[in-house]
Amino acid sequence: MMRCIEQDSLNRRRSIYQLNDRLPISENCFVETIEACVKHCPTPFNVQSARVAILFGNRHKLFWQTVWEALQTVISTKQTTAVKKKIDGFTRGAGTILFFEETKSLMTLKKQFPLYAKNMRLWTQQANGMLQYMIWQTLSENEVGASLQHYNELIEKTVNKMFDLPKTWEIVAQMPFGSIESEPAPKTFLPLEERIRVLR
Ligand SMILES: Cc1cc2nc3c(=O)[nH]c(=O)nc-3n(C[C@H](O)[C@H](O)[C@H](O)COP(=O)(O)O)c2cc1C
Repeated sequence: MMRCIEQDSLNRRRSIYQLNDRLPISENCFVETIEACVKHCPTPFNVQSARVAILFGNRHKLFWQTVWEALQTVISTKQTTAVKKKIDGFTRGAGTILFFEETKSLMTLKKQFPLYAKNMRLWTQQANGMLQYMIWQTLSENEVGASLQHYNELIEKTVNKMFDLPKTWEIVAQMPFGSIESEPAPKTFLPLEERIRVLR
């Protein structure tokens, strides 16, 4: 069947949990890619409130060690093996992108546009999600595996201090990345007729 637009690259982006640290692109190239995504991803009223920290090497390992220590205080003994496997899979990766929101930008935006003040947090969070996806998809197109994680509550009190980041940055998500150690299982899809109505 003839395809209207290229769709295979959308199929290829998956959650990759078992990583290793041999990146198919250089660290510099990786950083440039993230810079381009942060720069060009659209934001509400062009506020540009998303912030990211890219952790490589020992910083990356320290981050996952901290998550693991915090997790051990909240998980049951039964969960330990599976959770440890997940965290080890991330730790073996090449690095982690931490996503934040600059809370000062949100306050300014609310003051500037009082009419929309109650929607602003939702919109900045949506824009942060768009950036997460943009990076995830772009990495996938460069054969870098990644997944999206949310250990926010476990680390929000320590992470900024640990990496000397501004106190006004609020943690939103974490994306461990690396080369793809094992492919994910196939996933199921709901029928598109349930999800899309085409009206002409
Ligand atoms: C907004 C959002 C939040 C997610 N949070 C997590 C998470 O905290 N931990 C996790 O392992 N996966 C998380 N995922 C990954 C989803 O479970 C995954 O994308 C989904 O099952 C489809 O699989 P795929 O990414 O391989 O296509 C999240 C995905 C999205 C879009």
